Amino acid sequence: MTTAKKVIEDNAEAGIFNSMSHEAYYQIAGQVLPGAGLGGYALPEDVRFVIHKGEAGRLLDVRGKWFIDYVGGAGALILGHAFPSVVHSVREAANDGLHFFGTLNERCIKLAEELVEAIPCAEKIAYATTGSEATFYAMRIARAYTGRSKILKCEGGYHGNHDYSTFSVSPRAVSNFPVGRPDTAGIPGNLGENILVGPFNDLEAIREIVKSHKDDLAAVIIEPVQRIIFPQEGFLEGLRSICSENDVLLIFDEVVTGFRLAYGGAQEYFGVIPDLASYGKIIGGGGPIGCVAGPKEIMEQCNPINRGKENYAFINGTLHGNPIGSAAGLATLAELKKPDFYEALHSRSKHLQSICQEVLDRHNLPALTIGRGSLWQIVFMAKEPSDYSDFIQADMASTRELDLLQMHNGLYVLPAVRRFVSAVHTDKDFEDTVEALDAACKTMVNGN
Ligand SMILES: Cc1ncc(COP(=O)(O)O)c(C=O)c1O
Repeated sequence: MTTAKKVIEDNAEAGIFNSMSHEAYYQIAGQVLPGAGLGGYALPEDVRFVIHKGEAGRLLDVRGKWFIDYVGGAGALILGHAFPSVVHSVREAANDGLHFFGTLNERCIKLAEELVEAIPCAEKIAYATTGSEATFYAMRIARAYTGRSKILKCEGGYHGNHDYSTFSVSPRAVSNFPVGRPDTAGIPGNLGENILVGPFNDLEAIREIVKSHKDDLAAVIIEPVQRIIFPQEGFLEGLRSICSENDVLLIFDEVVTGFRLAYGGAQEYFGVIPDLASYGKIIGGGGPIGCVAGPKEIMEQCNPINRGKENYAFINGTLHGNPIGSAAGLATLAELKKPDFYEALHSRSKHLQSICQEVLDRHNLPALTIGRGSLWQIVFMAKEPSDYSDFIQADMASTRELDLLQMHNGLYVLPAVRRFVSAVHTDKDFEDTVEALDAACKTMVNGN
């Protein structure tokens, strides 16, 4: 078996490389990681690369090639890579100890205070390590509080990797609402009875499902912006009313929208306040922090003083309140709070989206630059989607092809996946992005 150590030694002996080559890394990765990939992503061989480091809005790979990064750590890095004040705070925190458990540390208390101040629905927060853990706990708290078992989610909505969230995220067949379909093997057969699925942006369909299941329904969980599908006017407000009228909790999954759309997330941006909200990504500034936020009364459900009592919702994790993640989160939030942060980010991102649309139009490609704020994507479709069934009618093969061609031309995007603009992308990054898109469009149109 090739090992990293052996490759480095052989290369040094042959005087070829100072470190391992791209090929050697993939040879080893193929031996030790399924599909030589990370998580659900195994990129085609001709576009995959191994990251050496990140700097602001760009990434450098082990071959010395730079990419303009629109993946942004899956949206965690609104300040790009290695933002100076974040790195400084992480260094300071690391000097004080990488991790503690069982009792509080200063940094996690300060971050919790900041989060409670920023998040409209929050009087208290409970820490998690990831966004998935946060949605999992939000569902558990909702079940414990209401004494009911079922959760309603929307078709196409992503709430992480746990068993309760992986229903009808990307179904290939037409849905038979409210029956969901698991997207992964390995889910216990009867779990689906507790997960209901409805269409995004369709208040009447949601109302029907909520009304007919209200005796067993603990909560409706929703991404306020579902992937790249924005809520139609009145949808979130309507959902709020349906939940209140039927005494069902409303959970906003703000893992992406939190601190991304506005400092107060989707709650501030759309002016709708849920009962509970889940967070991850930006609140840890790239570190291992997630949380559930909500009012005292509901969050009391996970008060550890009640451990052992019947209605207690157990929440616990080795890395909860991790001081390194808390330090990165605090330093990130301090930047986001500066005057006009979001106005500047949104207007720069809007500019990028409009210049990309001009390129697509110039090449007569039937594709749209869809997005708002710093969330965006280029999709081959005639009009913005309003739900998952609209979205899958897009020409996904062409969407993917154009993304792969942009990767060949120096962008880091994931094929047919939403992109993120960060506050540190420069004018030069945008110019180079337009050039990469122009070259990709030319190849697509001319076939070379
Ligand atoms: C809306 C939403 N919820 C939950 C998650 C899961 O977060 P994590 O990957 O940190 O577990 C994600 C991840 O992309 C997400 O986009």
